[in-house]
This record gives sequence, C-alpha cells and structure tokens, in this order.
Amino acid sequence: MDRIRIVGGRPLEGIIPISGAKNAALPLMIASLLTEEPLILENVPRLADVKQLERILENHGVDIAVHGRRSGTDAMDGQRMTFHASEIVDTTAPYELVSKMRASFWVVGPLLARMGEAKVSLPGGCAIGTRPVDLLIMALERLGATIEIDGGYVIARAKNGLKGGEIEFPKVTVGGTHTALMAASLASGETVIENAAREPEVVDVADCLIKMGAKITGHGTSRIVVQGVSRLNGARHAVLPDRIETGTYAMAVAMTGGDVLLEGARPELLQSALETLGQAGAEITVSNAGIRVVRNGAGIRPVEVTTAPFPGFPTDLQAQLMGLMTRAKGTSRITETIFENRFMHVQELARLGARIALDGQNATIEGVEKLKGAPVMATDLRASVSLVIAALAAEGETMVNRVYHLDRGFERLEDKLGRCGATVERISG
Ligand code: EPZ
Repeated sequence: MDRIRIVGGRPLEGIIPISGAKNAALPLMIASLLTEEPLILENVPRLADVKQLERILENHGVDIAVHGRRSGTDAMDGQRMTFHASEIVDTTAPYELVSKMRASFWVVGPLLARMGEAKVSLPGGCAIGTRPVDLLIMALERLGATIEIDGGYVIARAKNGLKGGEIEFPKVTVGGTHTALMAASLASGETVIENAAREPEVVDVADCLIKMGAKITGHGTSRIVVQGVSRLNGARHAVLPDRIETGTYAMAVAMTGGDVLLEGARPELLQSALETLGQAGAEITVSNAGIRVVRNGAGIRPVEVTTAPFPGFPTDLQAQLMGLMTRAKGTSRITETIFENRFMHVQELARLGARIALDGQNATIEGVEKLKGAPVMATDLRASVSLVIAALAAEGETMVNRVYHLDRGFERLEDKLGRCGATVERISG
C-alpha cells in the first residue's frame, strides 16, 4: 500500500492547476445511462473513484473511451472521455461494486427511468456516518416507482414509466437531488423538487442534462422544476473545477505561507470558504487565471465556522480547516452539521501535536506554536488531506499511511504540491 512522506516547513510558491470536480464528474458519468447516444465529458479528473465508477458503468453495458492528449495540452489537463450506453445489458449494480463507493448507488435513478427497473445494492456504512438512502427512495416513490428492499438490494420498478410528481426533501441532500433530477428528466409530466440542493455540482449536472435535451429550470435555487421528456440525446460537457480541491490547496498555502495561483479555480464556487480564509489571515485575489492565495509573515488567526449546505461552509472542507486551525494564534471552533461522525481526523491530527477537544458536533481547537511530524493514518478522503496540510507545517517527517483514500479524490497531489516547493513524495508498496 502506498504511503506519502512529507517533510514540513517550506512555504508553497507557484501554480497549482485545479482539476475537474470529482463530485460533478461522478453524477455526470452516471447521466450517460439516460441516453443511447454518446455523452462526451471533458476535464474529467484522474481519480480512483472515476475508475471505480467506470467499472460499474461498464457492467451495465456502457462503452467508455478515454481520448489521448492533444497538442498544446499539459499532462495535468483533465481527460476527455466518451460514455456510450447504446444498450443497457444489466440493470443490477452488484454489492461488490457499489460497496466501494457510495455515489455509485445513484445509478438507480437513470436505470429506473430508462429501463423501468433497477436493482442496486445498498451502499452500506461509511467512515463519516450512517449515510442512509431513504430520501433517494422517497424521491423515486414520488415519481411512481415501487420499491422493495431484498437481500441488501433496493429493487425499484416502474413498469409503465415514471410520472412527474412533487418531491419535498425534509433535509438538503445532494445525492437525493441528483437522483430526482435524473429520474424526473425522463418521467412523463412535471416534477417539482422542493428544498433541492444548491451545490454547484447539482447545477453542473442540470446544465449537462439540459444539453442532453432535458427541460429543467430553477437549478441553483432550492426549487427545481423538470418537464419530463420521452428521450434524451448525447451531448458534450466540461466538468466544472473542483471547489473542494481549490479550498484544500488554498488552506495549504494559508498554512505554510507563500504565494500560489490556483489555476482555473472559480471563486463563486467557494465564497464562504474564501471569506473564512480571509478572516484567518490569507490574502485572496481573483483574476481571469484563477484565485491567488498569499500569506506573508502574519500568523494564522482563529475562526469560528459551522458547516452547512451550499452556499454555506462545505463539510468537505471541514477537516482541512481544522488542520489549518491547529496552528492558529488562539482558539477556533468548528461545528459539523452535515455528517454525525466526521471528526476521524482529530485523533490523527493529535499525533502531530494538535490540541483539539470534541463535544458532540463541536470541535474546539487550541492553536499550538509547533506541530511535529509523526506517522499518521488516512481514514477518509478529506480527513487524509487535512493530515497533509498539517504535515506541511510540521517540523520533521510525517508519513501518511493508507494513501488510497487520497487517490480517490485528489489528482496527483504529490506532483501539485511538489511543483510548489513542498517536500512530498509517494513511497510505493
Ligand atoms: C455528497 O454526498 C458528496 N458526495 C459528499 O462528498 C458531500 O460531503 C455531501 O454531498 C454533502 O455536501 C458526492 O457528491 C459524490 P447528502 P451525499 O445526501 O450526496 C443525509 C466527499 O468527500 N441523508 O447531501 O451522499 C446524510 O446522511 C464526499 O467528496 C439522509 O438522511 O450527501 C447527510 O447527513 C463525502 N438520507 C445529509 O443528508 C438520504 O437518503 C446530506 O447528505 C440521503 C442523505
């Protein structure tokens, strides 16, 4: 199993290109199941989760092609991929495939909408909380599906097709909104989704569905209206830049000091996190090229943050902010409201010398003068990268074990940081 070795203490200086968003690329790939025509996606990040979803889609009969580099492109540029589901050969997504990645459950919506049936393994538990799928099931039922749970599988049927309906989510759910959108696009009649997720990835998926011929309005607000159509066509769509990767590297620069351009990043995707970074003492400037983050001399100021659905502070940046706050001059408070068990990084940060007290959903972080390198263990994707951020400012060597979590969501992390002067290397095996 690969490990990453980091020697801390060097400021980051240079350019970090921002990849396509994992959390948009995955549902966009799944949207290819809705049409028998090819869907071409550009700027797809090279990630373990993308590879895993390719396996799942191939099992349903999707032909997948990765296009080679073109002149003038960089090895860091995203991939162009074609997904062609001319025939769905299997409407079952088996446990062995779905259990590895929760988002793969989302195939249920398009399979059901196009084929009138889907049998998809329940995704199972996960390190950040119980993460049920009851709201996704509720949405499909509102569109006329009958749902049965048998042997760990959700079996969804709509023999005469889905019918538009009213879906009101009692809490904001990204996966629920993706599922409702995709299913409603091919349902007959009108669907209204209330309390819809407003996350930029939902908007990106809706934009792509519109290119495919779907009739959607209101995406980006909490009320989305879909007029169902009988078929969708192929399209070409570029995945939007990853706001969580952007925020992660911005926090890394705030941690080490230095001056980095996050190339291709879009500020409107992470306004709340950028404001927090400003309060913490980082200087943020925006240009056509991306977002520039600078921290010179001044120390890190403590902040108080509560995670919330978009446009609030994202739960997917909570661990990274905590990593940064371990070195703040004072006491910070972070409240996690989205997932009940998303503090797995706390005990690992403590191994580097961080002082963090937990009380339910609340973490209190007493900034320390100095962190010291140590062997640490990655527990989930965002938790692992918080350890990297802390390690970049720690004295001496940190070995991050179980790096596969990082590879799920961060493309070429060691190259991107290494190019900016950090001492980061991957040790294989
Ligand atoms: C998406 O997960 C993201 N994953 C997560 O990113 C992200 O943390 C999360 O949204 C919140 O922003 C992808 O996009 C692939 P939810 P999702 O449904 O859709 C509860 C990462 O690190 N809920 O918005 O699964 C749920 O338990 C990942 O990249 C129900 O109760 O999250 C949670 O408390 C981790 N019943 C809340 O809603 C349901 O049926 C929000 O979850 C569904 C969700």
